[in-house]
Amino acid sequence: MRILGIETSCDETGIAIYDEQLGLLSHQLYSQVELHADYGGVVPELASRDHVRKTIPLIKEALAAAHCTKDDIDGIAFTAGPGLVGALLVGSCIGRSLAFAWNKPAIAVHHMEGHLLAPMLEENRPEFPFLALLVSGGHTLLVEVDDIGEYKVLGESIDDAAGEAFDKTAKLLGLDYPGGPRLAKLAENGVAGRFVFPRPMTTKPGLDFSFSGLKTFAANTIRSEGNDAQTQADIALAFQDAVIDTVAIKCKRALKQTGLKRLVVAGGVSANQSLRAQLAILMQSLGGQVFYPRNEFCTDNGAMIAYAGMQRLKAGHFQDLAIEAKPRWPLEQLLSVKDSL
Ligand code: KG4
Ligand code: ZN
Repeated sequence: MRILGIETSCDETGIAIYDEQLGLLSHQLYSQVELHADYGGVVPELASRDHVRKTIPLIKEALAAAHCTKDDIDGIAFTAGPGLVGALLVGSCIGRSLAFAWNKPAIAVHHMEGHLLAPMLEENRPEFPFLALLVSGGHTLLVEVDDIGEYKVLGESIDDAAGEAFDKTAKLLGLDYPGGPRLAKLAENGVAGRFVFPRPMTTKPGLDFSFSGLKTFAANTIRSEGNDAQTQADIALAFQDAVIDTVAIKCKRALKQTGLKRLVVAGGVSANQSLRAQLAILMQSLGGQVFYPRNEFCTDNGAMIAYAGMQRLKAGHFQDLAIEAKPRWPLEQLLSVKDSL
């Protein structure tokens, strides 16, 4: 079985071809970072228009790179949500229409299921069940994963997502969009211990997160301490440590609560090396294992959508002729794959 995957939920056009036996045959990624940089964040209408320009040329390139034609494709998977509605509509319209024209099944994929399954693209894949920490620009979720489609959300952010908090704090520090990786770089020059940010919602029981207060804490620190280069780096480090510590505390709590020993970390923030180092120490101390996608598949990409689409198609989950775009789509609404086989 060979699947064409299309990702257009935010500011990256990702296309990939995944073969059940041979694995990933090709993948193409076009990032809109430069397009949005002048505005300091994603401008939804510009994102949609750019996906219109890039999706079909990238599909052609992905097919050529995989040395295959439409006749070799068994299904077309596209991100149907959650995400920016206009951006989602582009991928969904193109995916659904191509599937109709080529007479293939169309598969609507949940973006966060794509992130959650991205470590399955690696050689070192986790077995079910596991705990998933999904930390992206739009979502922060702790999910108990029994199997594909068997998801129980144990905790989520009640305000800003982890990546969003990184981006907003980076902006306060004068860094360009997208600020997450830039803030992480700046933190490398920071002096540990000069500032200590709070670890939100860690003293009360529960697995939800709240990151918006950290951004305010950063703003207040900048106001009182000034904004010279060293202070900026020290704030970046204190902020990053607070996010990572908070996330690690909640992971530990969730692993204890569920008795799980395997942790999967995915979504853009999982590319953060300090986060990885701290979670490695945590899992070592608990005698467990942690799994990640490779760096380029931490952030949005077509490969994870092709992979998730293949699992869904194998279970007989594909769409009728309607074009679906669901800006809000709870992960727990997904059907179990195991129950459908
Ligand atoms: O998963 P993703 O590509 O898009 C969404 O689905 O939202 O995640 C993008 C987010 C952005 O907020 C970006 O700043 C953050 O991931 N990010 C990072 C790092 N790389 C990406 N945050 C912290 N450290 C990084 N190294
Ligand atoms: Zn994403």
